[in-house]
Amino acid sequence: MRILFFSCLFVLLYNTTFSQGTDASSKENQFISDLISKMTIEEKVGQMTQYTGFFDITGPAPISGDNRRKYDDIKNGRVGSMLNVKGADQVRAMQKLAVENSRLGIPMIFGYDVIHGYKTISPIPLAEAASWDLQAIQRSARVAATEATAAGLNWTFAPMVDISRDARWGRVMEGAGEDPYLGSRIAAARVQGFQGDDLSANYTLAACTKHFAAYGFVESGKDYNTADIGTSTLYNVVLPPFKATVDAGVMTFMNSFNELNGIPATADKFLQRNVLKGDWGFDGFVVSDWGSIDELVIHGYAQDEEHAAQYAANAGSDMDMESHAYKEYLVSLIEKGRVDISVVDEAASRILRVKYRLGLFDDPYRYCDETREREITMSKENKDAALDMARKSIVLLKNDKSFLPISKSGKKIAIIGHLADSESSPLGNWILAADDNSAVSLLEGISKYDGNEYSYTQGVRLYEGREKFIYELKINTEDRSGIEQAVKLAKESDIVIMNLGEHGFMSGEARSRATLSLPGLQQELLEAVYEANPNVVLVLQTGRPLTITWADDHVPAIINAWQLGTESGHAIAQVLFGDYNPSGKLPMTFPSSIGQVPIYYNHKNTGRPYNADLVFWSHYIDQTNAPLYPFGFGLSYTSFKYENLIVSSSQNTVEVSITVTNTGNYDGEEVVQIYIRDHHSSVVRPIKELKGFEKLAIKKGESKTVKFQLSEKELGFFNNQGKYIFEPGKFSIMVGPNSTDLMEQVIEL
Ligand code: GLC
Repeated sequence: MRILFFSCLFVLLYNTTFSQGTDASSKENQFISDLISKMTIEEKVGQMTQYTGFFDITGPAPISGDNRRKYDDIKNGRVGSMLNVKGADQVRAMQKLAVENSRLGIPMIFGYDVIHGYKTISPIPLAEAASWDLQAIQRSARVAATEATAAGLNWTFAPMVDISRDARWGRVMEGAGEDPYLGSRIAAARVQGFQGDDLSANYTLAACTKHFAAYGFVESGKDYNTADIGTSTLYNVVLPPFKATVDAGVMTFMNSFNELNGIPATADKFLQRNVLKGDWGFDGFVVSDWGSIDELVIHGYAQDEEHAAQYAANAGSDMDMESHAYKEYLVSLIEKGRVDISVVDEAASRILRVKYRLGLFDDPYRYCDETREREITMSKENKDAALDMARKSIVLLKNDKSFLPISKSGKKIAIIGHLADSESSPLGNWILAADDNSAVSLLEGISKYDGNEYSYTQGVRLYEGREKFIYELKINTEDRSGIEQAVKLAKESDIVIMNLGEHGFMSGEARSRATLSLPGLQQELLEAVYEANPNVVLVLQTGRPLTITWADDHVPAIINAWQLGTESGHAIAQVLFGDYNPSGKLPMTFPSSIGQVPIYYNHKNTGRPYNADLVFWSHYIDQTNAPLYPFGFGLSYTSFKYENLIVSSSQNTVEVSITVTNTGNYDGEEVVQIYIRDHHSSVVRPIKELKGFEKLAIKKGESKTVKFQLSEKELGFFNNQGKYIFEPGKFSIMVGPNSTDLMEQVIEL
């Protein structure tokens, strides 16, 4: 009797669950196909067109020119999306223009670059990656989503998941560094933070994985440049974070400006149709990057804009960001039979599907809530989250003789550096919605700590010019007038805190550098101050790894404070004075010199690795192979001991455990990292690959045992046919606090 009861219960539950699922998706599909059947070709092409915001929509309508044409296109249902329109009132007015005037009243989707915060700015994504704290990273994305959606937005052009090994490329600040495993975990966390479990909620928005693909491998680190990489690197390094976001349910992708192995990504059918929409089953839509469809002509790929529209549409680029190529040519290309109507139906359906899941057909104004916008933007709760994220992102790079933390005991402390007084630079780049000068400067953060005597001087000016995304700052390379005053102040002080590095707008899009040294005259300033007083703490402010080799050879303490966002000054001060024990670990290798770049930990062995006896091995005759600081590196105010590494295996599954003890005088957090090496394989594998990590809070004197389990999923790799395979054989299992100081055991699988 009982069996009958439970089997009936199971059938009932099964039908309820899956029928709901089936019902929901069939309702969605029915809605979309019904709507598509009513649409004209022009209206379908309209969905594939995205314009940037071009005027104050709450003001008088534009009367002529480009803006009037765009205005009319919106009213006539020929625009599917806008970007760079923000604010509940502006979005509402723009949405009304489309919904209340067009024939079918299809709502637009509003996108914006909410990369690391909307108004409350969190650390730049590369800094967040240094926290290795997936929960904090997810919450950071959620805070950004709650503020952006309150301002009417329902789509962000993030996460950027481009793996890069080249700090010359300015956009490394937007990503998660050099490792595909860490990059994949962080990418998924960011998608979850932005999209949540209910995309139709008015505090979540559609995420956008970008830039598909291999943008981080631009030659010479020069933005927008050629990317030429092999199949193994494409499958094993570049693609995994993109796939991780599809598995996390990301609703949109953005392709990239670069050409990959001769094919511009915007027109790359293999990437967009075979891999993304085919193998991976991605059911959202792909938006081109700004003007990248038109750029197919400039690349030398398309003969003219009409061919560019044809190639991009046929290759699976569903939406045209600001080329206007689809609007101008797609209808005639269909009439000429050069683009099949099914291509447009599919693209429009994908776009409508995202709008449907966002709830925009239920309520086009769902995200326009002026009250909510006022209440939550820059709220204390959001700023507290930003502060927590900032502290966790700080990496302690050097701390000789426990120079840090600084005690609060009547010391005379000099603070030197142009950046220390900046309320703009700590925000980093990609802060389009942030209020100007809304960061807590280092000076302000330190001033909250009484008990010492603080004095500030700028030292050398680093930059001048407008601190905006679209302007390039002028870096001072002549005016040394501030050095004398800085030296004088250093001589009169017990400790010198030097805040040096890059301004936030020296990294990001179109900000590649050919050197990685301290910009301007900062190195001269550092050496002059150090000579006057060697008790220097270098607080680095940067959007990328820098070759601070001289500083590492000389100054007793170095903190990498990246660009930490709104709460920057408070976070750094808490670390400087010991109210927070730093726990960050580098997501990207710091080179010893620019000549080593690209440099990364998961490199191959080559046939001529290190050989002490011979000259004929892979090295430089004038520089070490070793990085300044390796991937995964970061110190603490306490110390941790690793012991009892136990590795066992059965059926190609490896069980690993290790005990970590806090042997120092502070409670702290440690990121325990596990790496593997596949010693012999049909496609050569790196000498080590990160395959797991766990961030642990360990009190002083306490020990914790960490366990990892590795299966074929972690032990395998993609072969040159793009197939994921596992090959039994000799493996090294390595565990430790970074990619260099590792305990190792070798096993046979
Ligand atoms: C930019 C960037 C892209 C951004 C887009 C919209 O050029 O490459 O990352 O999302 O245009 O601003």
